[in-house]
Amino acid sequence: MQITSFKQYEEDFKKSVENPEQFWGEVAQNFQWRKPWFKVLSWNFEAPEIKWFEGAKLNITENCLDRHLEKSGDQPAIIWEPNNPEEESVTLTYKMLHERVCRFANVLKRNGAKKGDRICIYMPMVPELAIAVLACARIGAVHSVIFGGFSAKSIADRINDSQCKVVITADGAYRGSKQIPLKDVIDDALIGCPTVEKCIVLTHVRTPVSMLKGRDVWWEDEVKHVNDICEAEEMDAEDMLFILYTSGSTGKPKGVVHTCGGYMVYAGYTFANVFNYQPGEVYFCTADIGWITGHSYIVYGPLSQGATSVLFEGIPTYPTPSRFWDVVEKHKVNTLYTAPTAIRSLMSYGDEPLEGKDLSSIRVLGSVGEPINEEAWHWFDEKIGKGKAPIVDTWWQTETGGIMISPIATVTPTKPSFATLPLPGIQPILVDENGQEIVGNGVMGNLCIKFPWPGMLRTTYGDHERCKQTYFSTYPNLYFTGDGCLRDEDGYYRITGRVDDVLNVSGHRIGTAEVENAINMHAGVVESAVVGYPHDVKGQGIYAFVINPEMHGEAELTKKDILQTVTRVIGAIAKPDKILFVSGLPKTRSGKIMRRILRKVAEGDTSNLGDTSTLLDPAVVDEIIEAAKALK
Ligand code: WTA
Repeated sequence: MQITSFKQYEEDFKKSVENPEQFWGEVAQNFQWRKPWFKVLSWNFEAPEIKWFEGAKLNITENCLDRHLEKSGDQPAIIWEPNNPEEESVTLTYKMLHERVCRFANVLKRNGAKKGDRICIYMPMVPELAIAVLACARIGAVHSVIFGGFSAKSIADRINDSQCKVVITADGAYRGSKQIPLKDVIDDALIGCPTVEKCIVLTHVRTPVSMLKGRDVWWEDEVKHVNDICEAEEMDAEDMLFILYTSGSTGKPKGVVHTCGGYMVYAGYTFANVFNYQPGEVYFCTADIGWITGHSYIVYGPLSQGATSVLFEGIPTYPTPSRFWDVVEKHKVNTLYTAPTAIRSLMSYGDEPLEGKDLSSIRVLGSVGEPINEEAWHWFDEKIGKGKAPIVDTWWQTETGGIMISPIATVTPTKPSFATLPLPGIQPILVDENGQEIVGNGVMGNLCIKFPWPGMLRTTYGDHERCKQTYFSTYPNLYFTGDGCLRDEDGYYRITGRVDDVLNVSGHRIGTAEVENAINMHAGVVESAVVGYPHDVKGQGIYAFVINPEMHGEAELTKKDILQTVTRVIGAIAKPDKILFVSGLPKTRSGKIMRRILRKVAEGDTSNLGDTSTLLDPAVVDEIIEAAKALK
């Protein structure tokens, strides 16, 4: 299954296009199935209806755990590195992980969870998070992991959207020098979540928490009541594996649904290939399991391949900006997969944090989540990879389940800031505004995918129409990614960023409409408009134009009130970097906000605003430009 030469990549790619069913059928033979499929693929992008490995039966945890026990049961599956470097790290071998997953799966059953039930997980980056995820999969329950930075309201919305029955959380989480009261946040959320019957609480930071009789139980107590034998539930290839909420250009986040068979094959295949993983190597992905990168490339991808995956609780700058390099040195990390925002942040500390650090174990570097600028690419290459480690700039999305366009380490010649070429099985095309394919090289357009791949989303939970509208209706018979893209003279792809109203702040996806809704919930605010602007470290910053709210003469305090409101409604990750109070927004006569103008103002480039003749009140633009100059 592993590609070892560029020639082989070309052959595999060709085969995957000419005969996709044969190609993926062969790839899937590398996994363990209880029953084989009778049809590799049936699809229709109009409905959309996509089925991979129809009729096949499996359990993904048998692929991630059981099948490794005989040969590599004593090999480390997870190495946990705590937030505080003074604390001991923890190694779980495949045997130990298997045992713990089975035991916790029995805890879930004991608490009433069964196949098909939705379970919300809101936990710190500790081994128990991976255990909880795998335990859900073991019994066929559908996990919905929520990143620890989201607010009670965001959690409640997600729990209610998918009617979760059980919540798994911890007393609290450490993030750098901060402590986050996870259980308190969950308590606030659960006030409005009638479907939740049980909440399982892990002790981690030892902060006092409220425990509600009949609903809340301790993880540590529960595991004492069960044994560690748990037969895996037999799942259909198209049974739901998990839901992961992500932001779009409109309204509430949507629950992207991935299914068991196709997702497993795709996560495993892409992991083995993109990182050129070799048995025994230590692989470190710095993402949080609360995001898709953590799902596919900390948990399912690496474990399905019997890899050793480092799970890091902390942040790159705590206790010092040497932390990543300390972790690399300590665990002799061979592959480091991180985000451009982390690279840019560490770069800003100069060379000192790198002094005396032994990074010689590094063989492959990876980047994900946002476009990587050339400066950051070169720094990563020279300072971390010492010019010898290939950088895989991996483009993909929550919806794609796994990496789509990326170099294959040691195989594909790389080029700074290019995600390079599509992986076998992936057929990208660029289209213009009207959906016409843009052929040839040296062109730009909107990135679409014209053929299904096993890891693609199947629906958005509880609202199939939304899935159809969002991804399959902009251009008929194409999956639309929402990204703009350049294909250069060599046929290499470079992702230029979102072409819709989705922001990418420090690699986190945030919808402008979501932030506007949150700002508008502040009592004094009438209306607001949010746009992104280039930010040196975060990639994009959030700029909010807010129509003068009632502020009792205290503009600065009102700004802080607005930030507090956004934190309450969404979470701290969605806080605007800049707030500008204005008396009006540039609207067309039909009432549409001309975001193009606001983007220009936010970028600080108002030399050419384009056609403003359709504006209802052009004078408002001059006022905004003037006010923006005064804002730091
Ligand atoms: C962006 C993260 C440029 C892109 C895995 C995409 C990237 C969105 C890259 C998905 C990359 C991701 N280069 N842009 N290598 N990787 N993106 O769902 O805009 O959190 O649509 O998935 O991140 O973000 P998501």
